[in-house]
Amino acid sequence: MSINSKEFSSRRQQLIAKMSEGIAIVPTAPELIRNRDSHYPYRFDSHFYYLTGFKEPESVLVLIAGKENKSILFCRDKDMEREIWDGFRYGPEAAKTEFGFDETYSIAQLDNMLPKLMGNQSKLFYSLGASSDWDVKVTGWLNKVKEQARTGVSAPESVVDVRQLIDVQRLLKTPYEIDLMRRSANITAGAHNRAMKFVAGKFAKPKMYEYEVEAEFLHEFYRNGSQSPAYTSIVAGGANACTLHYNANNCVLNDGDLLLIDAGCELDGYASDITRTFPVNGKFSPAQKDLYELVLASQFAAIETAKPGKHWNAPHEAALDVLAQGFIDFKLCKGSKDSVLESGDYRQFYMHRTGHWLGLDVHDTGDYKDKAGNWAILQAGNTLTVEPGCYLRPADNVPKHFWNIGIRIEDDVLITKTGNEVLTKNAVKSVVDIEALMKS
Ligand code: GLY
Ligand code: MN
Ligand code: MN
Repeated sequence: MSINSKEFSSRRQQLIAKMSEGIAIVPTAPELIRNRDSHYPYRFDSHFYYLTGFKEPESVLVLIAGKENKSILFCRDKDMEREIWDGFRYGPEAAKTEFGFDETYSIAQLDNMLPKLMGNQSKLFYSLGASSDWDVKVTGWLNKVKEQARTGVSAPESVVDVRQLIDVQRLLKTPYEIDLMRRSANITAGAHNRAMKFVAGKFAKPKMYEYEVEAEFLHEFYRNGSQSPAYTSIVAGGANACTLHYNANNCVLNDGDLLLIDAGCELDGYASDITRTFPVNGKFSPAQKDLYELVLASQFAAIETAKPGKHWNAPHEAALDVLAQGFIDFKLCKGSKDSVLESGDYRQFYMHRTGHWLGLDVHDTGDYKDKAGNWAILQAGNTLTVEPGCYLRPADNVPKHFWNIGIRIEDDVLITKTGNEVLTKNAVKSVVDIEALMKS
């Protein structure tokens, strides 16, 4: 067994221990048609991948917990004809030895075997409602088990959402995952630095488009071994930065504008997620600098609170504290800081939250509050983003020199035993460093 399969196998053991008894069914994602007979690039299901490390479509993981504990993979058969056209597939035999499953079978045997495996299991761990196709299959298998009632075979009495158990596990990253996330973060940091230099180098030549800068990201991601962007890149010049999910990326970049880029790569399944905002011409105007320094100060304050024992909302509250005071100082909000926070007036300029869990999914799984409604407590091994910003659309209460400025600064943070580690620290972000990099 390779070192990686030990990591994945230990995740399965952990889940089996939490199930205590019953059967879990975790299918991977389907292949998706983009148009006619062209597919989207295939992306496995994150929960399935977390437990298997197996990247092929048409695969299902089954875990059995109780008197006997075992993990079973159903996957595609070896098929020379299909492999000539589409590429390598492991097949059940090699998948068993390479990935360390107890048993492996052809996916063609799924319908036949699942009702047998489900018989006499007390609980079914399955993510009901996540896929109607799988719901139909699983319900069909359950009905087959129930049909055997008179022969003494019992069906699972309860269905537990297996995602809830896996989510909790995924919130705490292992050293193996942290290493991958560090590498993913480093590739993305390099791409942001590259983009700043690219824009500086191209500036003054007529017409530079947002998509040209996006292309620099793809180049840097792929040449460093990333398999894909982790999400659709936002490359937003000038006023476009005030549209939070802007991704048309097709406008000309103008002298005097800021460029906000929210882009991150995926490396072996793990996302990084960085936003940087910098002047197209390499030099912040006084108004841009004022607002940029404000957002940066709010981000530092937020990162400072991202420590074990603090609650999930502490970084958001710290960022808001700094932003609200800044909005008052810049005459964007009226009244005291407490009244601005209380009334929510700051939301005209800062309308999103300050971060999210990060991992296999860019907005990773995991609850932000417990069942009693209390914020989650940060623990060593959590990974999250810290991403305050401000977005100033033209309005009567906004001084003209601030119009159409959108700024966000986003880093990826690992909570450690003693504080935190900013995984994306290599992406430059101070005014001095950005201007220096763009001049070099
Ligand atoms: N790129 C998505 C986000 O920042 O949440
Ligand atoms: Mn983010
Ligand atoms: Mn982002």
